[in-house]
Amino acid sequence: MNDSVEARELLYEGKAKKLFATSDPDLLLQYFKDDATAFNAKKRGTIAEKGVINNAVSEVFFRLLEREGVPTHFVRRLDDRRMLVKRLEIVPVEVVVRNVIAGSLAKRLGLDEGKPLPEPIVEFFYKSDPLDDPMINAWHVLVLGMATKPELDRMVALTLRTNAVLRPFLAARDIVLVDMKLEFGRHHGEILLGDEICPDTCRFWDSSSGEKMDKDRFRRDLGRVEEAYQEIARRVGA
Ligand code: TMP
Ligand code: ASP
Repeated sequence: MNDSVEARELLYEGKAKKLFATSDPDLLLQYFKDDATAFNAKKRGTIAEKGVINNAVSEVFFRLLEREGVPTHFVRRLDDRRMLVKRLEIVPVEVVVRNVIAGSLAKRLGLDEGKPLPEPIVEFFYKSDPLDDPMINAWHVLVLGMATKPELDRMVALTLRTNAVLRPFLAARDIVLVDMKLEFGRHHGEILLGDEICPDTCRFWDSSSGEKMDKDRFRRDLGRVEEAYQEIARRVGA
């Protein structure tokens, strides 16, 4: 079946990816662009070959997670920029898991970036461009009907499992997994990990120098953005 998948109509174009229907109603084609945005697209640019790298890095992580018992939407990578995925009904919640204080957590609570947390913190954000993805809590998710209690429990458990699998994998490659953002969806009633896992959606710091090796180089104008993405791909074997 998969060998003859054809791209059909464009279903959705996001900031970093396009999603196409395929000849199989259960499968979609995810196309990775080089476009980069930050601060809800107030800052725009391109990162050369980002789409190729994010596709390849996401494949490495999804394969590893599948082997470790995290069900994902990944089916297979078709070529440099295209990945075949299971069709999801997306839960409109971004789940962030943090191991080290950084980014919006540092800003919100006036904390210094770089302090390791004694255990992971999980946060939820409502996926809404017009509202700039506001932070929400489990009560908002449940009472406002974004997910059911079993679905939310499953998302949290899969988030912590994903973190527990990726952290040592990355540590063995001299990368600290500072934090990451995950998205989930429903596929025939089952919650699957979706979207992508890559330097756009994670913070990766070099273990010895602490150097940032992720999209913060673009967000904060730190330079050598492409080099950082390529180095992550090289270290994870993508
Ligand atoms: P934050 O510290 O800005 O809340 O980001 C937490 C993590 O989520 C970080 O690894 C980057 C990722 N992230 C996204 O994937 N998309 C986004 O729009 C934002 C703001 C963060
Ligand atoms: N998702 C953000 C944007 O909307 C980008 C980011 O900071 O990761 O532009």
